Amino acid sequence: MRYFPAFHDLTARPSLVVGGGEAAARKLRLLMKAGARPVVVAPKAVAEIAALARRGEITWHPRAFRAGDVAGCGLVIGASGLAAVDAAVAETARSRGVPVNVVDRPDLSSFITPAIIDRDPVVIGISSGGDAPILARQIRARLETLLPANLGRLARFAGAFRGAVAAQIGDGLQRRRFWERFFSGPVADKVLAGDETGARETMLGLINGRDAQRQEAGSVAIVGAGPGDPDLMTFKALRRLQEADVVLYDKLVGPEIVDYARRDAERIYVGKAKGHHTKTQDEINTLMAEQALAGKRVVRLKGGDPFIFGRGGEEMDYLQARGIAVEVVPGVTAAAGCAAAAGIPLTLRGTALAVTFLTGHAKDGEPELDWASLASGKQTLAVYMGVSTAATLAGRLIEHGLAAATPVAVIENGTRPEQKVVTGRLDTLAERLEVEGVTGPALIVIGEVARQALEADITADLQNAAAALPQAV
Ligand SMILES: C[S@@+](CC[C@H](N)C(=O)[O-])C[C@H]1O[C@@H](n2cnc3c(N)ncnc32)[C@H](O)[C@@H]1O
Repeated sequence: MRYFPAFHDLTARPSLVVGGGEAAARKLRLLMKAGARPVVVAPKAVAEIAALARRGEITWHPRAFRAGDVAGCGLVIGASGLAAVDAAVAETARSRGVPVNVVDRPDLSSFITPAIIDRDPVVIGISSGGDAPILARQIRARLETLLPANLGRLARFAGAFRGAVAAQIGDGLQRRRFWERFFSGPVADKVLAGDETGARETMLGLINGRDAQRQEAGSVAIVGAGPGDPDLMTFKALRRLQEADVVLYDKLVGPEIVDYARRDAERIYVGKAKGHHTKTQDEINTLMAEQALAGKRVVRLKGGDPFIFGRGGEEMDYLQARGIAVEVVPGVTAAAGCAAAAGIPLTLRGTALAVTFLTGHAKDGEPELDWASLASGKQTLAVYMGVSTAATLAGRLIEHGLAAATPVAVIENGTRPEQKVVTGRLDTLAERLEVEGVTGPALIVIGEVARQALEADITADLQNAAAALPQAV
């Protein structure tokens, strides 16, 4: 480790910033976030620094740096951008034993500033020792996605109860267990969800031992995993997955998503697969309830959104009827994910004023849909589970007045690396699906919004055909 990570208290002594440009302003913002009292020395300053000085939030000496400026300072930043000035600042600070950082000059600095994640009072600094600052920033971006926005609130909440918990639970090990449970339990969930009043009530119950039973009770989160690309999962989905003791997942949820679960979490596949016993919905319901009633945090992980053709509603009702706490975490539904991935808008000003999500599959064969209304008006139809019934679907729509030439686009395995987009007309939809061998999960988009994709394909086909013709000599 080239640099020792430490957190400075900047409130005791002034911090000196030499320089008045954008780089100095950036450093000032950071210092002020940490409660510093900055003094700026620079003959000229950008408007932001001048305004801070006018408001009395910093002191600005509009002149050149002098060695005496360092006296009494707790920290020095060289941000003039002028090699000679920055070197003089660094030399003076070092000779007086004051920590100094010179922007973009680790060779002149006695400390470097990390990429920062600020969830005050939780602060994370990430450093690559000056070797790869962009890598540090990318790590920060990844960590940002994992940390709830209200993390700071949670830390402050816990801090406010530290004394009370210590007074009530004398034993150190017990106390540690209490806090471990606290940070992954319902009180923390409430704080993170912004319900501090509810959290305080539950916390008081916990500390006084009244709600010990409830703290141990399990729960089920019915979580939407999105259409396939793991980056399309929500922060909350990721968090629930990482907290889960048990994960029940479907066929549409790929291993790269299930892998976000804790290593020691139990993973149970409940989807359909050749050669495997397929669990019925009743069996899945029973399994979820058993696990939750045994005190486990269960995640029921579903493709797309749980409430869109996902049977999330039935599962929620079943669990709630048994007094089990249920939370539903929405996900990016296939229509939204596939449309975005294929560059097809679902609505289009003046052309598609509504979008309807419908299923091509029903319990007993053909779905009972209002074909006349689906065939009318300026709208987009996003058909789920429609590949095997495409011929019937297209036939019914045409019978009810939708133009046979209406453009269609079929997105198979949308948002995944193997995504394939097939375009065509409504009257040849079934034929196109067969010719193109569409067998994976696919979303059918019917409407004018697919015209651009269709025309682009026709142009590409014509160009390919022209290229294949023998060249004239
Ligand atoms: C049982 S439904 C589940 C829908 C899911 N709850 C949602 O909100 O996306 C399954 C159907 O969703 C569509 N689907 C799901 N993921 C898809 C993907 N990655 N690409 C294309 N279609 C997908 C297909 O029509 C598939 O047959």
